[in-house]
Amino acid sequence: MVQAHIADLGHGIGLRIPYADGLLAPDARTVLGVDFLEILVENYAPYGGRLKRLAEQAAEQYPIVLHGVGLSVGGPDPLDARYLESLNDLARRTGALWFTDHVCWSSGFGVEYHDLLPLPFTEEAASHVARRLREAQSRVCLPLGLENPSYYVKHPDAPLSEVEFLNALLEEADCGLLLDVNNVYVNARNHGYDPYAFIDALPAERVWQVHLAGHLDRGDVLIDTHGAAMTDDVLDLYRHTLRRTGGISTLFEWDNDLPPLSTVLVENNRARAAAHDVLGPRSLRP
Ligand SMILES: [Fe+2]
Repeated sequence: MVQAHIADLGHGIGLRIPYADGLLAPDARTVLGVDFLEILVENYAPYGGRLKRLAEQAAEQYPIVLHGVGLSVGGPDPLDARYLESLNDLARRTGALWFTDHVCWSSGFGVEYHDLLPLPFTEEAASHVARRLREAQSRVCLPLGLENPSYYVKHPDAPLSEVEFLNALLEEADCGLLLDVNNVYVNARNHGYDPYAFIDALPAERVWQVHLAGHLDRGDVLIDTHGAAMTDDVLDLYRHTLRRTGGISTLFEWDNDLPPLSTVLVENNRARAAAHDVLGPRSLRP
C-alpha cells in the first residue's frame, strides 16, 4: 500500500474560487488557521489563465491534496485518458500529496451523469472497482484513495453490507480511504445502521483523510447537501473516529450556497476543537 506519503496535515478547507483572495492573502495560512487546502480537480485542471495561477499560488502557501468527482472508478467505460492526464498535470504543478475520488460511477456508455451513482454491494462490483483503481494508480503520479459516498438507494439483493463491500474493495485495491464522517452519519440514518459500528469495522490504518460537512435533516430522510454547518452528532462521530485513527488530515466541506469564508473557518475551528478533545493540544494552533 502507498502509505509512506500520507501525513497528518491538520485541518483544512476547499480552495473555492470565491475564497481564493482571502485564503491566498499574505500570511493567511497562519492568520486564518487553515493548515492545508483541497483542490477539486474538475474546477482547476481543465483550465489555464487565472485558475491555473490560483492553484499554483495556493501550492506555494499550503500543502495541497486533490479531490475529484469524475474518475468514475466504478463505471463501465475505459478510464478517461484525458482526465488522468489533467490530474497528472495538476498534481505536478501543485505538488499535491494525494488524490481521492468516490466509490461510485459518474459516467458510462459515453454519458457524463454529473452525479455520484451508487454501486451494488457485491464482490463482483468490489473487484471491478479495485481493478480499475489499480489501473488508474499505475497511470498517475500520486497516491490514489477512495471516499465512501452518500447514497439514497441500494440494490435490494446485494449480498454484502456497505461496510463489508467497502472493506473488500479497500483490501483488493490496496488503497487508502478518505473517510467522510458526515456521509457515514447520513447513510446510517437513512439506511438504518449504527454509524459507530461502521467506523469500528473499518481498517483504521487505511484512513488517509477525513471529510466533515453539513447535511439537511428532512425528518424522513437526511440529504447530504454540503450546504450547512456540522451537526453535533457528526462532530461526536468524528471524535470517535479520531480515537481509532489518531491525528488525521481533516477537511471541512461546504460546496453549496457558499457562505462568507469566515463561516467556513468557524466550522474548521469546530473540527479542530473536537480533535483537541480527543488528541490534546497538538491539534490546537497557537
Ligand atoms: Fe466528502
